[in-house]
Amino acid sequence: MDYVYAAFRGEASPGRRSARMPELRAFAAATKRIARLLHCGIMTAEPQEMRVSRGYNFSAGPAALPDEVLRQAQAELLEWDGARASVMEISHRGKDFIALAEESERDLRDLLAIPANYKVLFLQGGATQHFAQIPMNIARRDQSADYVRTGDWSEKAVKEAQPLVNVRIVADSSATNYDRIPPRDSWDLDPNAAYLHYTPNETIRGVEFHEIPDTGNVPLVADMSSTILSRPLDVSRFGLIYAGAQKNIGASGLVVLIVRDDLLARCPKDLPKIFNYAEQAAQGSMLNTPNTYGWYLSALVFKWLKKQGGLAAMAERNRAKAELLYGYIDASGYYKNPVEKSARSWMNWTTRRASSVSSGVSTKRRAAPASRSHHRRLPLRSRLFSITALAAARMLPVER
Ligand SMILES: Cc1ncc(COP(=O)(O)O)c(C=O)c1O
Repeated sequence: MDYVYAAFRGEASPGRRSARMPELRAFAAATKRIARLLHCGIMTAEPQEMRVSRGYNFSAGPAALPDEVLRQAQAELLEWDGARASVMEISHRGKDFIALAEESERDLRDLLAIPANYKVLFLQGGATQHFAQIPMNIARRDQSADYVRTGDWSEKAVKEAQPLVNVRIVADSSATNYDRIPPRDSWDLDPNAAYLHYTPNETIRGVEFHEIPDTGNVPLVADMSSTILSRPLDVSRFGLIYAGAQKNIGASGLVVLIVRDDLLARCPKDLPKIFNYAEQAAQGSMLNTPNTYGWYLSALVFKWLKKQGGLAAMAERNRAKAELLYGYIDASGYYKNPVEKSARSWMNWTTRRASSVSSGVSTKRRAAPASRSHHRRLPLRSRLFSITALAAARMLPVER
């Protein structure tokens, strides 16, 4: 048997049976390959599908990911793309991860048609951290910045910016409980403002801008956490776009930031490097170890979105979901949606009881096929981010 062991160890053949060594070496290599595949679960003696019970996710917090993406992530968990390790376990500076990072950026650029004079960053800290980082990077302390306050998220953005820049609130719908978007011609804009910040989709209230506001030469900054990738977008109208990933992109802990080159030139040299967008851009978002698994998941979602037909197809799907749900709410007699019709969000909406008659809809979280949870400050609220299927929207009204 010595010559068999030698073949498996890849050593020279001992003795007279050396004529069979090439054959044995091929056999040994094939056996090792099969053992590796078995080890990483691509081939397995056990049944592949574990029994799972995935409800529809209409909840606050992170949104649903496509089953197809989760299955691919599951299949690649132990070994990613021939790397002999999970994507979480390999060097972010190695050529395999760099290739993933570059491809994900190309895919995002394709999806959003991002012009060449914009950088794309994959950062950490959640959108909340960037409420503060944005004024640090693109405004001087003696400057003012204009903010549009249309809901809870823009309110938080205002509070985080206030210690760092002179915040001017140029439009505000708090007096009507954030149920509308103040008309653009009523905004009190400062032509010398460092930037104008707004929140195109106010996740909690379900208020969405369906037009990009014109701010002249003042750079437009948008918190797109819950609207990015839900429809085509003219990126060239913006100075800076940022989005936490957990709604329409992937998993929490990752922020995608798209910034025009002239704004990067404003980043102060004395800012700690880790907060400095220009430094991050120069280092390919790898000043320190990035959120590699979050980045990988977003790369899978970008591919999935392209396969669905891109953002034009997503827009059709999202419009259909919204029409279905608002149609139901308006016709129900039980519910009403408090938001002005022109500002109703495609992504999330709140409902209030229009009458004292019981709707029959349970307010408890339910098991499959549909799960829905309620925001702590609002009575009944549902969200259907881009990735959530139309089938889920059909489930929601009939739930009893
Ligand atoms: C519009 C908007 N901005 C900001 C945030 C905060 O994001 P993060 O939790 O990633 O800081 C959220 C979270 O839901 C959001 O919907």
